[in-house]
Amino acid sequence: MPNDESPGDPHSGDGSRNRFDMDAEQFRDAGHQLVDQIADFLGAITTVQASHHLNPGEPLALLPTDDLPEEGADPATLLRETAPLLFDNMRVNGHPKSWGYIIGSPSPMGMLGDFLASAANPNLAAWDSAPVATEIEIQTVRWIAQLIGYPKDHSGACGGLFVSGGNMANMVGFLAARRRAGGEEIRKVGNPDTRRLVAYATRETHTWVEKIADLCGIGMDAIHWIATDVDKRMDTSDLRRQITKDTANGFHPFIIVGTAGSVSFGAVDPLPEIAVIARKFDIWFHVDGAYGGFAAAAANVPGDIHGLREADSIAVDAHKWMFTPLEAGVALVRDKQAMLDAFSFDPPYYHHRNKTDVVHFFRYGLQNSRCFRALKAWLILRHGGRRAYVDTVENNIRLAGIMKSALDDHPCIETMTHNLSIVTFRYVPEADVPDDPAERESYLNDLNAAVLTRIQTGGEAHISNAIRDGQFLLRACITNFRTMEADVRTLPEIVVREGQHVIATH
Ligand SMILES: Cc1ncc(COP(=O)(O)O)c(C=O)c1O
Repeated sequence: MPNDESPGDPHSGDGSRNRFDMDAEQFRDAGHQLVDQIADFLGAITTVQASHHLNPGEPLALLPTDDLPEEGADPATLLRETAPLLFDNMRVNGHPKSWGYIIGSPSPMGMLGDFLASAANPNLAAWDSAPVATEIEIQTVRWIAQLIGYPKDHSGACGGLFVSGGNMANMVGFLAARRRAGGEEIRKVGNPDTRRLVAYATRETHTWVEKIADLCGIGMDAIHWIATDVDKRMDTSDLRRQITKDTANGFHPFIIVGTAGSVSFGAVDPLPEIAVIARKFDIWFHVDGAYGGFAAAAANVPGDIHGLREADSIAVDAHKWMFTPLEAGVALVRDKQAMLDAFSFDPPYYHHRNKTDVVHFFRYGLQNSRCFRALKAWLILRHGGRRAYVDTVENNIRLAGIMKSALDDHPCIETMTHNLSIVTFRYVPEADVPDDPAERESYLNDLNAAVLTRIQTGGEAHISNAIRDGQFLLRACITNFRTMEADVRTLPEIVVREGQHVIATH
């Protein structure tokens, strides 16, 4: 028991406070040391390996201990050994040649924002618990809506909140649409079986749509897949046809999912046309802009992207093209009442001084207790300002164009697609490729898969893959403020060098 001489826990570090506390000096020392380690990591980020080459089992062997420690450790020592454990053994998303999947280079201001958010640790469930933090989140949501041209008046129409990422942001829109279609009844008794709910999406849609159809109980068969054109964009004639047929057959179409920048190819669906169809048939229009939504702020983008302004809900991912560290997605919903209808329950154990005249975020989404994800985005936008942010997104798109031209110029590379900041291509050697078309495709698929593995484990750059009509393609996506023109110009040489190595060693 604590007593006057030892007011803290008997297991305290210095006899006066609980083991889990640190005095200001201890914290300052450990923290300054950690900041120095992070600063060194950032200082060297253009020269380190972009990816790791660890195999299963190897990471565990790097950990200092397998057993739960019985006794504690010195904070500074712990941090000193943990930072390099991470920095030296990971894919470095902030590396200038990090172009795999879709993950933003995390901005230093975003890192500091997360640190500050953790230190303050506000709980953004209810306004009363975190009034300033809540207003910052509301303001950030408004700024993001403003950036992409979405109705932004929080006190009027648009609602929104931060979630963990693109999947969750899309699910918020989907669930709001389901509630709008199913009314109060869907809350009480579940999905109606007399009016079978139907969602429309293309096969290019990210798998979140299957996950949520499964988890919310309407089932994956409720997704009616719409054909795509040669550019992998939604075929709106097929959409019209399917809606008409389904309505005649007693289904209840409740949501159309368009994509502003598909995960594999960056394709932008014909959003303005989809909006017209959605309005005509009175169906909720959702746009997955997890990757490309922010491109609506840029000038060098296809005009169709601005159709997201017509959407009933939009998902964007700040940890992709807004350069926040993981995790930060944003759900925007045109009518905030639709969020309240879908997510709001008022438990008796909440007594809030301010009930209705403020935003309690627990009423707007799936989470109750919520961390302060918005802070890092707010700080990033204030640090750079709108103009620098838009310039950076536009520059990423311009660099993808330069990358495509550089790949086009190489006789051993076939470039396949280029949309927004995603380029797909494959290595096609000048000799040894089979003549028979089927054998040729199979040979190139295996070859390019092996080339990708070499590149991913080599560490000079990080790229990923896409499958298009059975073809295994290499894929680079630039959502990276550190990428320079000289970086993208090195890609053809890396691909061809690794391709030649694979051929020579097989
Ligand atoms: C178009 C699209 N939607 C949704 C997602 C899922 O986002 P997250 O991984 O942040 O959940 C992604 C991820 O790449 C995406 O590209």
